[in-house]
Amino acid sequence: MISSLPPLVRARAFCDAFALRLPILMAPMAGASPASLAVAVANAGGLGGCGALLMKPEAIRAWAADVRSQSNGSFQINLWIPDPPPQRNPAHEARVREFLSQWGPVVSPEDGDKMPIDFREQCEAMLDVGPAIVSSIMGVYPADVIARMKEKGIRWLANVTTVAEAREAVAAGADVIVAQGMEAGGHRGSFDAERSDTALIGLFALLPAVVDAIGDRAPVVATGGIADARGIAAALLLGASAVQIGTGLLRTPEAKLAQAWADAIAKAQPEDTAPTRAFSGRLGRSIATAYVKAANAPEAPKPALSPVQRALSQAMRDAATKAGDIDRMQAWARQASRLAATEPAADLVRRLWSEAQALLTPS
Ligand SMILES: Cc1cc2nc3c(=O)[nH]c(=O)nc-3n(C[C@H](O)[C@H](O)[C@H](O)COP(=O)(O)O)c2cc1C
Repeated sequence: MISSLPPLVRARAFCDAFALRLPILMAPMAGASPASLAVAVANAGGLGGCGALLMKPEAIRAWAADVRSQSNGSFQINLWIPDPPPQRNPAHEARVREFLSQWGPVVSPEDGDKMPIDFREQCEAMLDVGPAIVSSIMGVYPADVIARMKEKGIRWLANVTTVAEAREAVAAGADVIVAQGMEAGGHRGSFDAERSDTALIGLFALLPAVVDAIGDRAPVVATGGIADARGIAAALLLGASAVQIGTGLLRTPEAKLAQAWADAIAKAQPEDTAPTRAFSGRLGRSIATAYVKAANAPEAPKPALSPVQRALSQAMRDAATKAGDIDRMQAWARQASRLAATEPAADLVRRLWSEAQALLTPS
């Protein structure tokens, strides 16, 4: 059993299988995965990551070329599996637009029609780039895409938030399961968008349950709220083969994050973040800003479904980023954000692994 191996032996086996020197993955973060951060993590011996949701095919190709030119090319490319097209409700959207117009520029009815970048074209670009690893969130890839990945020898990491999703992903051919606890910053990867509020499972409960359910069929990577060497050691003791870190890398210089967002991460206690649908229509964990609190309040109109809410909130988010205004900014962050360090990403990743190894080595 993979899970019965001593933690450091299990982590070493994972590193050997994926040509890594240390078992730390940069989380793929849509809008926050600059090539500079992936290069730093890959060059430290971990896995770089690209959250490609918001990238056109040519941008995906350019990102991969950039990272390959500066590193050994150890990275994952990640896509969101699209939800079924949403039922539109013009009367309700009008209430949402009115609410959003109090926080940013006036939102017009057509703003909600903006479509996301074509998923199939993004898949083509990803397969064409041919990374060693791809990952998914919000579901599993269509069978034909999985078959083409397998033909090309690309390995697939599937993000899951429940034991049932882990079983579904393994049955579909996932090579690695990424168990995402509800502490995670950013979007919650529930396969069914409607269930994400009820299936809010913390990593301490989810990880051993997924490890036990999957057995030897796939190694499990832990993600969500892992903030320092204590978290890495705990995740490996609970059966993970590696960890994936998102918010914890966002204050490094290579992340090039908007200053107001980075400062808010530095201050946030665990209780200062909140799950919300107010930015995209999908549930995600953000700093509990003034906008998030107001939009989550019972009297506020329920956000529109994904991807309509993302389109409707675009003008407010853009204006907030331009003004450096954290209260209206889309500022994803995990619980335990405050522990995010500011040293260069390569130093941070190496230090975290060296400290975690010390914690896991009997004295
Ligand atoms: C800014 C941001 C953007 C994210 N975008 C994505 C994404 O596009 N795809 C994805 O699979 N996960 C995404 N995530 C979730 C991460 O993959 C990971 O689950 C999460 O960061 C782990 O929790 P942590 O922030 O506590 O480390 C994002 C997280 C953040 C903080």
